[in-house]
Amino acid sequence: MKEQVSQQQAGFSTKIINCRYAKPDAHGSISFPIYRNAAFEFEDSNTIAAAFQYRTDLHTYSRISNPTVHHLESKIKAASGAENVMTLASGMAAISDTFLTVAYAGSNIVASPHLFGNTFSLLNFTLASFGVEVRFVNTDHLDEIAAAIDENTCAFFCEVITNPHMEIANLPEISKLLKAKNVPMIIDTTLVPWCGMDSRKCGIDIEVVSTTKYISGGATGLGGAIIDYGTFNWTANRKLQHLPEPKGMSRFTYKLRSEIARNIGACMNPDTAYQQALGMESLQLRYEKMSTTAYELAQYLSQYSKIVKVNYPKLAHSLYKNISDDIFIGNPGAMLTINLNSKESCYKFMDKLQVIRRATNLFDNKTLIIHPESTIYGTFTPEMKKVIGIEPTLIRLSTGLEDLNDLKNDIDGALNDL
Ligand SMILES: Cc1ncc(COP(=O)(O)O)c(C=O)c1O
Repeated sequence: MKEQVSQQQAGFSTKIINCRYAKPDAHGSISFPIYRNAAFEFEDSNTIAAAFQYRTDLHTYSRISNPTVHHLESKIKAASGAENVMTLASGMAAISDTFLTVAYAGSNIVASPHLFGNTFSLLNFTLASFGVEVRFVNTDHLDEIAAAIDENTCAFFCEVITNPHMEIANLPEISKLLKAKNVPMIIDTTLVPWCGMDSRKCGIDIEVVSTTKYISGGATGLGGAIIDYGTFNWTANRKLQHLPEPKGMSRFTYKLRSEIARNIGACMNPDTAYQQALGMESLQLRYEKMSTTAYELAQYLSQYSKIVKVNYPKLAHSLYKNISDDIFIGNPGAMLTINLNSKESCYKFMDKLQVIRRATNLFDNKTLIIHPESTIYGTFTPEMKKVIGIEPTLIRLSTGLEDLNDLKNDIDGALNDL
């Protein structure tokens, strides 16, 4: 009991580092071992039946659950304060499984169109082909969100900071509207981890995260998480209302674990879970350094006349500064964008960099740079790019752990040659 109280009162990193094992390790291993096996053996038929029916928490088969994966989920639970966490093979697996859990033919999702490319594609093409409608709204306008919601709305969805537009919806205000209309708020929080924001306070019901980013600890592998705060009453959802809620799971988590994730099979790999559990332990340290670098670099770049615009929510000119100051703790993430005067200048600038790496991904230990319009959105039609709001003059930067002066010098060199 004493241990439990002190764990609750502990700071962010202590909670993660001291996250208890579900069962004591036979050898006292100081980090949770990797269980690479596919199946688990049982003494008798009753016990294996009970495990399959969620009447015990024993593992049966690693596509369904696995001890190492469960330990990573426990660390995410400790960090987020959520009721249930399920990790999957990638961020996209987490987003896909979430919508497959709540959406049904004839339902609609109210969402910002300003989304990571594959998420846009999932909503606009993949789910649409199964009879799920997506209603794109400008999340800056509450009345537009309200007007788009009807009795078939199964979710509101946006990214906590849109990638790469860097917009921030007023989540606490939107949450009041959604609560009044009985619609769950599902947010992709990949851009700001739990040490940088309080998801519960923002009114988030379900969070989806690409753990490939901050969590993995240096881009060691792909992963995703679905985080259920247990705050939504799912009897409002036609697909979920008749389901049971076994052992403290919400209807959402029950549907996700017992059907959707099992059937889709995009499970988290135990080796990756081991690495990401280790990544979680240094999350706060890395986040503080990376996001401080992002802010300092954004300020530095603002002095350059060759840069048309620097986008980072904490900058005084940002449209989103007030809401950013309200909902984020410390700096608002380690992503920033800049606009140059043409696509050619973007390529020229990027090709001269020597420290900063030309690569996709976010929140690696290395600083990464990419031209989203020709890469992540490269296969989209010009019309689609317009809907998603992707500009050919935009460059995205994800700041890593290098020394700030080296990043500044690298950028100085590349810009001077423009
Ligand atoms: C905001 C956001 N959500 C989801 C994803 C998808 O994550 P993953 O690559 O792990 O599938 C990404 C990937 O960059 C992302 O930036």
